[in-house]
Amino acid sequence: MKSSVLIAKKYGQPDVLEVVTTDLPKLAVGMARIQVKASGINPIDARRMTGEFKHSGFPQTFGTEFAGVIVEIDSNNSGWNIGDEVLGSGGAFTHASVIDVPTVNLVRRPANMSWEVAGTIAGVGQTAMTILDEIGNIDSLLIHGASGGVGSITIQLAKERGIKVVATASEKNQQYLRDLGAIPVTYGSGLLQRIQTVHQDLFDASIDMIGNEEATQASLQAVKSNGFIGTIAGRPVSSNRVRPVWVKRNVGNLQHVVDGIAAGRFKWEVSATYPFENAKQAYSDILDGHTRGKSALTF
Ligand SMILES: NC(=O)c1ccc[n+]([C@@H]2O[C@H](COP(=O)([O-])OP(=O)(O)OC[C@H]3O[C@@H](n4cnc5c(N)ncnc54)[C@H](OP(=O)(O)O)[C@@H]3O)[C@@H](O)[C@H]2O)c1
Repeated sequence: MKSSVLIAKKYGQPDVLEVVTTDLPKLAVGMARIQVKASGINPIDARRMTGEFKHSGFPQTFGTEFAGVIVEIDSNNSGWNIGDEVLGSGGAFTHASVIDVPTVNLVRRPANMSWEVAGTIAGVGQTAMTILDEIGNIDSLLIHGASGGVGSITIQLAKERGIKVVATASEKNQQYLRDLGAIPVTYGSGLLQRIQTVHQDLFDASIDMIGNEEATQASLQAVKSNGFIGTIAGRPVSSNRVRPVWVKRNVGNLQHVVDGIAAGRFKWEVSATYPFENAKQAYSDILDGHTRGKSALTF
């Protein structure tokens, strides 16, 4: 079987991206072959494209989440069948028309869920669950840069746990943050004062999705001295109080987010959808750093 795969043979801007057709090898043990219907685009894809993250040799492939239909299944597998509609995560290869994925990473697509939504959940959903699990039991949380993919679901999962959330975004996304359950604050000059206006006490924890000095300084001032200050941005930070958090794959965590969306407990906005042939535009837009909710490639 053939797959159309997004690749880059060097680092650079989206013009380094190209789609090539490859022959897939014999399906390995423990794997399912998936015809991809939709795949979320994440900042990490564009950051790997530019070379900010140098994870692999060339040609490099992209994409960490997907939804699609099983077209072939390893005969040792029980519980999955050809034709099953699934979603899940994988490491940097899901921006392709057909992919091979370990069946242990699969979750069933709920019948009421669009392909675009299903294909954009796994990466950010598991990241948000990792963040909250690592922070532990808290009453208040400050989130920097919360209107994007990770922030949108982190707010809602935190609210589900009874946590008060103050979250930052630009002016245009203040009502969006409010609708997700957060107390919104605009980032930029005077940030700490605006945070303290809506939350007079010190926070139990903060998580930064931006990785800039403004967020670091605000967290150092606004979080209790024994509180948790974390970042998922993967950028250098000026204080050793800031702890890096990295997503941990956990199908149970993913299932929890999928169930919450399917049941209408969590809102999920896919603000931009691009046909696979427009991947360069999609990567250009995600590099801008102002995606609201998620964006998706469709196949
Ligand atoms: N460590 C991990 O395991 C892990 C996992 C997933 C993602 N990440 C990283 O986490 C970061 C966030 O991911 P994401 O998918 O949520 O990104 P995203 O969807 O691109 O969202 C970024 C959000 O940040 C806001 N923003 C932009 N400039 C800002 C500023 N100066 N101050 C505060 N907020 C600002 C934007 O809001 P406005 O449009 O309102 O400005 C936008 O909604 C990325 O760098 C990504 O690579 C890490």
